[in-house]
Amino acid sequence: MSKFLKDELERLDRTVIWHAFSQMENYDGLVIESAEGSWLQDIHGRRFLDGASSLWCNMHGHRHPAIDQAIRDQLDKVAHVTNLGMSHPVTIQLAERLTRLAPAGLEHVFFCSDGASAVEVAMKIAFQYWRQCPEPQPQRTKFIALGSAYHGDTIGTVAVGGVARFHELFRPLLFPVLRGPCPDGSIHENQTESATLCQEYLAAYRALLAENAGEVVAVIAEPLCQCAAGMVFHPPGFLRGLAELCQEFGTLLIVDEIAVGMGRTGRLFACEHEQVAPDLLCIGKGLTGGYLPMSATLTSKKIFQSFLGDASKTLYHGHTYGGNPLSAAAAMATLTLTESLLGSESMIARIQQLEIGLKKLSEYDDELRARQLGLLGCLQFRSGGPSKSASVCKRLLERGVWLRPLGDCIPIVPPINISEKDLEHLLNSLEYGLDLTVKVL
Ligand SMILES: Cc1ncc(COP(=O)(O)O)c(C=O)c1O
Repeated sequence: MSKFLKDELERLDRTVIWHAFSQMENYDGLVIESAEGSWLQDIHGRRFLDGASSLWCNMHGHRHPAIDQAIRDQLDKVAHVTNLGMSHPVTIQLAERLTRLAPAGLEHVFFCSDGASAVEVAMKIAFQYWRQCPEPQPQRTKFIALGSAYHGDTIGTVAVGGVARFHELFRPLLFPVLRGPCPDGSIHENQTESATLCQEYLAAYRALLAENAGEVVAVIAEPLCQCAAGMVFHPPGFLRGLAELCQEFGTLLIVDEIAVGMGRTGRLFACEHEQVAPDLLCIGKGLTGGYLPMSATLTSKKIFQSFLGDASKTLYHGHTYGGNPLSAAAAMATLTLTESLLGSESMIARIQQLEIGLKKLSEYDDELRARQLGLLGCLQFRSGGPSKSASVCKRLLERGVWLRPLGDCIPIVPPINISEKDLEHLLNSLEYGLDLTVKVL
């Protein structure tokens, strides 16, 4: 590629494309031309380890032969079939497989295109359910969401969102939501204090449910870790306790596993860590291994059955590409890879490697904290945050590693099949970035 063309592409990328979550005034991004395994390559031939799995979705690396082949094979059949009045074998097989693997009782799958749309439909299904279940409760109009929640960027999902920087501006457009505390487990990490903390958080949710008894449509929660909030890990037992509260108060539980699901935490579904089976479960991102847009909302039989009957009970909701066969083929191949990796010696070894590496890095500075579950990790600066994390990530580019800062936090979310050597490179590069940031500052 000529220098002229490269310059022109970079200029157009800055001026014509409006990049997500980016201040375009000073935008300076990479233009990636190709990728292989855990590595991205830009138009200048520079290679970067994809330590963020292309925003938490590339589970098995880029150009994985099995996923590539599944998509190619599907292309020879059909690329797209509408979900309205039709289906395709691979989409049906995927739905059946997801219900088989999901927590007990989730027997139906509504396909969407991205995370936000999966959460939107979960909320609409829950709302409509109370209006047409065997003993309708139309007075249920409220949602309870977690402090600092992030469920996507559509208006409905922004309403349940609680990250001030992203959501506050839109408040006048949003329906009111009951908000509990953000169950930040990092306040106390020793076991006894963490258990007390968990009970305190749960008491706040109990109070909210009690004050609004009979009026709550659903509680919506990201399980175990609120990623976009800055990798906020919950105290152990919080999800389980929240699910029990929902049962006690007879409301629905929507679990949003868009970021933490599909094997990221070492289990296929994050809910499994606390033996929770929600009423509605949203998955996306890693579902297709980071290849194609697809998300899904799984629901229980009780919910699905309440939509059966005459036309008035129909769920009038859909997305053009919901259940797309190319995406479904990618998801089937991804699931096969993920199922064989989960619990394997190599994945356990990588999780330990990340744990040891992050612990070492966190000892670098008193203000630095590390958190991790499976291959979902982060380093967080307790003070001087956003500028330090941005500065470390900038330094990492010099070492050929791409990580994207998130406030005062550096999420470390590599492909779950990352090699020992690549993970070592990532961890060593972080040390280099810290050397040049923390020591110098
Ligand atoms: C927990 C959670 N829910 C929903 C979303 C929205 O997903 P999407 O960007 O695919 O709409 C995200 C995205 O990061 C997320 O982390």
